[in-house]
Amino acid sequence: MLRSKTIVLGVTGGIAAYKAAEIASQLTQAGAKVNVIMTEEAVQFISAVTFRALTGRPVVTEMFDLASEFSIEHVSLAKAADIVVIAPTTANIIAKLAAGIADEMLCCTVLATKAPVLIAPAMETNMYTNPITQENLSKLRARDFVIVGPATGWLASGKVGLGRLADINDIIGSVRQVLGRGGDLTGRHIVVTAGGTQEPVDPVRYLSNRSSGKMGYALAEAARDRGAKVTLISAPTSLPEPVGVNVIRVCTAEEMRQAVENVTLQADSLIMAAAVADYRPRKRAKDKIKKGKAGLTLELECTSDILGTVKGDFIKVGFAAESSNVLENARAKLKQKRLDLVVANDITASDSGFGTDTNRVTIIDRKGKIDSLPLLSKREVADRVLDQVAALLPKPKSRRSSKC
Ligand SMILES: Cc1cc2nc3c(=O)[nH]c(=O)nc-3n(C[C@H](O)[C@H](O)[C@H](O)COP(=O)(O)O)c2cc1C
Repeated sequence: MLRSKTIVLGVTGGIAAYKAAEIASQLTQAGAKVNVIMTEEAVQFISAVTFRALTGRPVVTEMFDLASEFSIEHVSLAKAADIVVIAPTTANIIAKLAAGIADEMLCCTVLATKAPVLIAPAMETNMYTNPITQENLSKLRARDFVIVGPATGWLASGKVGLGRLADINDIIGSVRQVLGRGGDLTGRHIVVTAGGTQEPVDPVRYLSNRSSGKMGYALAEAARDRGAKVTLISAPTSLPEPVGVNVIRVCTAEEMRQAVENVTLQADSLIMAAAVADYRPRKRAKDKIKKGKAGLTLELECTSDILGTVKGDFIKVGFAAESSNVLENARAKLKQKRLDLVVANDITASDSGFGTDTNRVTIIDRKGKIDSLPLLSKREVADRVLDQVAALLPKPKSRRSSKC
């Protein structure tokens, strides 16, 4: 979704300016055309050459640089931008933006653009919490600036506190979310489940599976980037929470069932990418089970069938992770659980299924139509699944009421 986008990346004179290099690099790698504007002070912290090399594009450092193609018409970058991102944003630039000052190229561009503007403040805690900065930020918020962060953490002063530049994943996730506004899932509420549930055996042990949660998280991010309101019901994973997504953390299959039932009351689609335990220990030991000479027999009972029992007026999508007879088993799941779509994958392949960044899946619909996809990144698979979900959703106007 960033491939065809033109992004102005403003870099200002704060200690976190070096992190803007990573942002420029990631946006460029994702296919965006990144035009960097640096303030005069930013150049004290990081060289324009770095951004020139990372983006492969000219970098603006002065308003009156006659050699720069952008300076000739001082608002040309503002016109071309799909979004203006300022990361890091100093207290000084926040104040200038709030006051409408245009005495250098970055502020001039923000004043002149019709594109959304996202700022990521970064500064010492006292500068950030100062009522003047807070008042300036309130003004910008009221004018629809998107403000990401700051985070709490290690600051250049050696203290730990509020004012650190937001995580780069959160900044780029927010850029994607803003650019996705008005996408084909706008006004829709998509519920996604992810990860492998954990069924406690005793206070230290549990039964679980190899699911990493990557497929579900990719689905949640892709739906967000297409304008949807997204609820992600996540079993424990090591993945960072996607920005702009409502994350509900659960542990067991039973907790996941309850969360799914609650949130699907207002859902347009439920996509169950979680690997939900089929069995759990019949009893959870109160104390840690001690090692003994004899073996241990655990008695297991079935967990509830979430996909098979959840009811409601939404598009239901299941995942079938199979190690044999993949299509046959997936078709049976589609029928038994009355799904609209089933996404089948062979978990025995080394480049597909649990833990990998790629997946090779086959999507089967109710009419038996089969879409066998090649090996793709999980994000690409997510978009292909959402293409089919979007096509199945009733037109918004024909619905009784919007769900979000
Ligand atoms: C070493 C050093 C680090 C600084 N770090 C920050 C910072 O993280 N955030 C901030 O708002 N200002 C910071 N400042 C102050 C700004 O550099 C100063 O306000 C400058 O005028 C900002 O210019 P600009 O907003 O045009 O880029 C720092 C100053 C110095 C000397």
